Amino acid sequence: MARAVARDISHGSVAWIRWGFMLGLLGLAFQLSDAAAHAYQEEEAERGAAVFARRCSTCHGDRGQGLTDEWRATWPPTHQNCWKANCHGPQPYPEDGFTLPRVVPALIGPGTLRRFATAADLYAYIRARMPFHAPGSLPEADYRAVTAFLLQRHGIPADGRPFDPEAARGIPLSAPTPPEEGRRTVLPAAILALGGVAAGGVLLGVLLGLRRRRRSLWSSG
Ligand code: HEC
Repeated sequence: MARAVARDISHGSVAWIRWGFMLGLLGLAFQLSDAAAHAYQEEEAERGAAVFARRCSTCHGDRGQGLTDEWRATWPPTHQNCWKANCHGPQPYPEDGFTLPRVVPALIGPGTLRRFATAADLYAYIRARMPFHAPGSLPEADYRAVTAFLLQRHGIPADGRPFDPEAARGIPLSAPTPPEEGRRTVLPAAILALGGVAAGGVLLGVLLGLRRRRRSLWSSG
């Protein structure tokens, strides 16, 4: 009889311990996943600057200022008005012509890249949509490098680990977070961390309780 009771108690405790462990692991995993967010390597950003100069600057400007009048003025006279020139003017186009929108946005400088919440969003956009006339035509490494370059120009420091589209989800890109939003993202993190601590407490309690019960069972049986 005493044995059966002891077995029941230890079965129940084992289930608790399992739950405790699972919650604890969840808390740990959350914290690790947060730590897994990382940026890019310095060399990557340097390569990205070269990619930008070769493949992006024609439209986005040598300093990422966008297709400004000042930038177009550095081109040969016949190309300065993109929309009247052969390649992007009235159709039919020559072989490499295409319609160019009137505005090519700036990518570097105050207020730029506002529509991208994280570095992962920026990467996904560039990878899928740029260069405008030939989306997806760059080698994968060039897409990562040019994203790293833009992150660098937006004040996100290199941390020695290669740019990774998954890890980039943890890198906020939009302007400094207003306090309201900051609190909203910090809160779930705090709750999960507390959950992990609580789970540890539950585990400890269960273990101690188990020991006490065992002892009293032994002394009564
Ligand atoms: C032929 C011109 C052209 C080239 C070359 C080009 N882009 Fe663009 N880019 C555009 C245009 C036009 C838009 C606006 C598209 C739209 O609004 O749909 C744009 C938009 C963007 C945006 C979104 C900016 C925002 O705030 O909305 C990013 C980021 C971008 N380009 C990055 C790049 C990168 C990186 C390269 C080089 C790999 C590149 N582009 C090459 C024309 C170009």
